[in-house]
Amino acid sequence: MRILVLGSGAREHAIITALLAENAGHEITSAPGNAGIAVHVPVIHLDPTNGPVVAGFALDNDMELVIIGPEAPLVAGVADHLRKRGVAVFGPGKAAAQLEGSKTFAKRIMDDAGVPTGRAARCGTLAEATAAIDEYGAPYVVKADGLAAGKGVLVTPDRDAALAHAEYWLHHGSILVEEFLEGQEVSLFLLSDGHSVLPLSPAQDYKRVFDGDAGPNTGGMGAYSPLPWIPANFIDEVIETIALPTVRQLATEQTPFIGLLYCGLVVTDEGIRVIEFNARFGDPETQVVLPRLITPLSRLLFAAATGGLGGLPRPEFSGDVAVTVVLASEGYPDTPLTGRVISGLDEALAIEGITIAHAATALRTTESGENELVATGGRVLSVVATAPDFAEARERAYRALDAIHLDGAHYRTDIAASVAE
Ligand code: AMP
Ligand code: GLY
Repeated sequence: MRILVLGSGAREHAIITALLAENAGHEITSAPGNAGIAVHVPVIHLDPTNGPVVAGFALDNDMELVIIGPEAPLVAGVADHLRKRGVAVFGPGKAAAQLEGSKTFAKRIMDDAGVPTGRAARCGTLAEATAAIDEYGAPYVVKADGLAAGKGVLVTPDRDAALAHAEYWLHHGSILVEEFLEGQEVSLFLLSDGHSVLPLSPAQDYKRVFDGDAGPNTGGMGAYSPLPWIPANFIDEVIETIALPTVRQLATEQTPFIGLLYCGLVVTDEGIRVIEFNARFGDPETQVVLPRLITPLSRLLFAAATGGLGGLPRPEFSGDVAVTVVLASEGYPDTPLTGRVISGLDEALAIEGITIAHAATALRTTESGENELVATGGRVLSVVATAPDFAEARERAYRALDAIHLDGAHYRTDIAASVAE
């Protein structure tokens, strides 16, 4: 199949790795991709958020499927441009992508669909925010309404910090103050063709920057899959009480959700609650979900894109486990220092069960004409380890990280520690 993958992160690298692992002779193009992706497939430099440009490229190059990785092109309506011109696309249109693009839209859909979630107040002024903060009490949860690259959410016991966060984000638009939900977090991905859904294997993400869940929230510092502690019937319950009602609600509103419904969930004492929806594969969870997928990924995504999920069996996963640890630049998540040289990847890749998904990397030519790999952003790469058990997967992942060098870099050392015997 001729496939175009939009995006440039570790998630897209993991998607492309899974497509290539099918050994089905796919012709894959990545736009804009990164240095790691460019080792395996052609990369082209087009703006993935420009709908007419993406649709023109897809048609000129006979793309049979376009997979949209990140949220920005979805929220910009790139999927609509592709669909209008008859191209099969995995990713919701602009209207349905508001499920991720606007937290108040997501809450409204959940209310209308009867989906279990925490209480929330939309606030347009500091007075409203202060009242909601005091009503819900500590720990305080304050969120920017729109996309904020993982930086819009503050969960804190400190009332002054909550108020300062509210004040800052009120300059950018409305905010949400939410009830704090206590419990284990689960990321569950569901493929949707607008009507039917199929679940992938659940994963857990580590959002805080430092060990022991200390420090600020990030885009995600690591993940593991599957979740050995997950309650029985968890997936069926999420499908029945969360995913299908949400997909049906969007279909009723003539904005079908075709793509990946990312359910960010908390298992509270009162039951499963939605913390957030995303309209795309999660990063870094994708890096631990896809390596365990046995069913060909292209078949699933094409079926979702073309209304063909109904009647398909649930995707199959291997019995192996996967752990990923994100290597971040010095200063991430505040002000990452970039442009530094990365070395040791070959030694890391020589370890059994290790793959590396690049995120913010580029090749730079030195004065002597040699190429060197440099870090270009905060989350630089994901080291992914698969193994028969979590203790082995962790050992492999951290041995690989020992082999990699990037000045000032940091990573969490406790990813999947709680599930490794
Ligand atoms: P979000 O971007 O909405 O997923 O929020 C980022 C992270 O903040 C989540 O993964 C949770 O760890 C935390 N968080 C967000 N909302 C809540 C909430 N209502 N209760 C507890 N923790 C939350
Ligand atoms: N790992 C969280 C996200 O993808 O939004």
